[in-house]
Amino acid sequence: MDLKIVLLGPPGCGKGTQAERLVAEKGFVKISTGDLLREAVRLGTPLGVQAKGFMEAGKLVPDELVIGLMKEKLAAIKGPVLLDGFPRSLEQARQLEALTKVDLAIDIEVNEDNLVKRVTLRRSCKGCGAVYHLEFNPPKTAGKCDKCGGELYQRTDDTEATVRERLKTYKEKTLPLTKYYQDKKILRSVDGEGEISVVFDRIVKVLEKK
Ligand code: AP5
Ligand code: MG
Ligand code: ZN
Repeated sequence: MDLKIVLLGPPGCGKGTQAERLVAEKGFVKISTGDLLREAVRLGTPLGVQAKGFMEAGKLVPDELVIGLMKEKLAAIKGPVLLDGFPRSLEQARQLEALTKVDLAIDIEVNEDNLVKRVTLRRSCKGCGAVYHLEFNPPKTAGKCDKCGGELYQRTDDTEATVRERLKTYKEKTLPLTKYYQDKKILRSVDGEGEISVVFDRIVKVLEKK
């Protein structure tokens, strides 16, 4: 069966990091709305122009824009899918349900102080989107991606002030989704503290039970 998995959790909890490993080791295809939107901003597409201000302010990009993007991507994929950063509002969750069946929603839990530490020292690859951390997961060569040799940069929304704003947005708009998926009996919470590989093993255990 081709699983469709939603990765839930606050900014910096490790959605992108874990998705990267699940793609490399478990054969998933991932769709990351954050990565797609950043690419659109970089290219200056109409979507990017509309999304930029919301992203820099730590707010959600309007549902209709993100849902349009997701529809297009989902239709093009066959096989097991990981959704990283979508849905993020009840409206998005309802629209997703109309498109396809979600098998599991995995909520990665991390305390707030650690989230801020993770995000403010994150570095991301311009080439392939891989994620590093200056202290917890540094690249082998400073400033360079281990995987593709691309240049590492700091996301414009990775300042402490914007992270606090993103956390506020998360609590208002995205946290209600845990109850939404709990009511559907497909929510699994995973402790996101500890080493990246330890968290990965916890997620794999959840997947094996499915
Ligand atoms: P998005 O890019 O999705 O950002 P986010 O949800 O805020 O999540 P992050 O990417 O910041 O964190 P992550 O959970 O992926 O953590 P990571 O693995 O990198 O969205 C950005 C913006 O786009 C939004 O604010 C919004 O404006 C817009 N947007 C996106 N989707 C949208 C949607 N559906 N609707 C509307 N708007 C949307 O890890 C973080 C750091 O911690 C890294 O440095 C990593 O190396 C490190 N780390 C990871 N795991 C561990 C560990 N176990 N121990 C120590 N360090 C760790
Ligand atoms: Mg991410
Ligand atoms: Zn790279």
